[in-house]
Amino acid sequence: MDIDKKHFTGGKTEGGITSSYATEDGVTLKVPYSFKGTIYDDAERAAVLAAMEQDSLTMGPKTQEFQNKFAKYHKVKHAFACSNCTTGMHVITQLFDIKPGDEVIVTPNTFVATSLVILKEGGIPVFADIDPRTFNIDPADVARKVTKKTKAIYVVHYAGLMVDMDPIMEIAQKHGLKVMEDCAHAIGATYKGRYAGSIGDASAFSFHSLKNITTCGEGGMITTNCDNYAAGIQNLRCMNNTQPWDQSVSEWKFGDKITCKKTSPLEYWLPAHFDVIPWNGHWGSNYRMNEIQAAVGCCQMEKLPMLTEKRREIGRKINAGLEGVKGIETVYEPEGYYHVYHLYTLCVNEKELGGSRDEFMRVLYQEEGVQGILHYQPTFHFTGLQRMGYDPNQCPLSSEFFYKRELNLPMHPRLTEQNIEDMINGVRNAAAKVRKRHCKA
Ligand SMILES: Cc1ncc(COP(=O)(O)O)c(C=O)c1O
Repeated sequence: MDIDKKHFTGGKTEGGITSSYATEDGVTLKVPYSFKGTIYDDAERAAVLAAMEQDSLTMGPKTQEFQNKFAKYHKVKHAFACSNCTTGMHVITQLFDIKPGDEVIVTPNTFVATSLVILKEGGIPVFADIDPRTFNIDPADVARKVTKKTKAIYVVHYAGLMVDMDPIMEIAQKHGLKVMEDCAHAIGATYKGRYAGSIGDASAFSFHSLKNITTCGEGGMITTNCDNYAAGIQNLRCMNNTQPWDQSVSEWKFGDKITCKKTSPLEYWLPAHFDVIPWNGHWGSNYRMNEIQAAVGCCQMEKLPMLTEKRREIGRKINAGLEGVKGIETVYEPEGYYHVYHLYTLCVNEKELGGSRDEFMRVLYQEEGVQGILHYQPTFHFTGLQRMGYDPNQCPLSSEFFYKRELNLPMHPRLTEQNIEDMINGVRNAAAKVRKRHCKA
């Protein structure tokens, strides 16, 4: 058994869905599903210690440096660090002014957060089905779902392969809709030479533990090319704090009316050194990132090309190793796309395999020691949404993908040659075993 005990989370964890699927079922795993998506070394360790010595531990120089590096890399005008992708998407939902009754077209093949932020503002997620080859939202179905109430389109670059953005932007332009890119899987991904997070009106990234770079387990970034949105993000990310300070009450006495006059930020000793104004009627929150996380983010940005290349190399090896296995479909990277392999999503063709995906996955896990996991249950199948009356039979391709086809193999840049070989052999053996069991001869 080749488990790297030091790095395997095993045992009890706080939150199963985001930190481990370890069980004490006696299965000997050769390749566990790791919940750490990156590589840390002395650079991150030194950066953490240095940031801890700073006077300010939040919204300081490291946050600015991380934002600048991120914006430059993704060729986007503005980048603002935040506490995670969900809070980033919440800010964007407020920027788009999604109000009760407004419809937002969204993919069901995503982490629930993409729809939660719509629901949180009283909006209505309207699900468009996926393209069965890319697993991304299908622009043709998006076009069919537009109504008079539609206000925005939320896309997710699933697994690290970007959505076909040109038709999405055309639909948005035609109907006057806003577009958000959920780039949680797509750090550094490109589509026709354009980076994730640089095409839609605003975008959000995740630096959760699993992601291609991580800022100590949680973190996010909001990007936009729009100056007005940039101001809105700064306002909503941090207590509706408005700068430059609009209001001076330095001469205020009880009974006086508040007089508004601009004060210099340099006169920090004046009372009321910041003002609070809701952004377009929306109240903000504290969605900030801290300096320790940002310092780690800066190191991770230096490593990003290396980390991405490692993932792509692993992806290429698995693709090659599984070529021609009957009933198994490997990762698809269309011309003009740069896939960053956040996930390695393998698909089972049950007809060709002769057995079910679930059986295949069970054999792969129990007999071959390779732990796969599933992403994502169609959002409208969650009980909370079912209670709202969503048709469980809508978006059949998303359901088929989740219940019958997909399986994500362990994918992170620390996988060894032995791990890769074990995964390839494991999939080959599991496929052969399932086929044999169902062979009538
Ligand atoms: C597609 C997608 N969107 C949004 C999120 C939410 O990200 P965060 O955990 O940073 O809030 C995730 C995280 O797993 C995700 O995979």
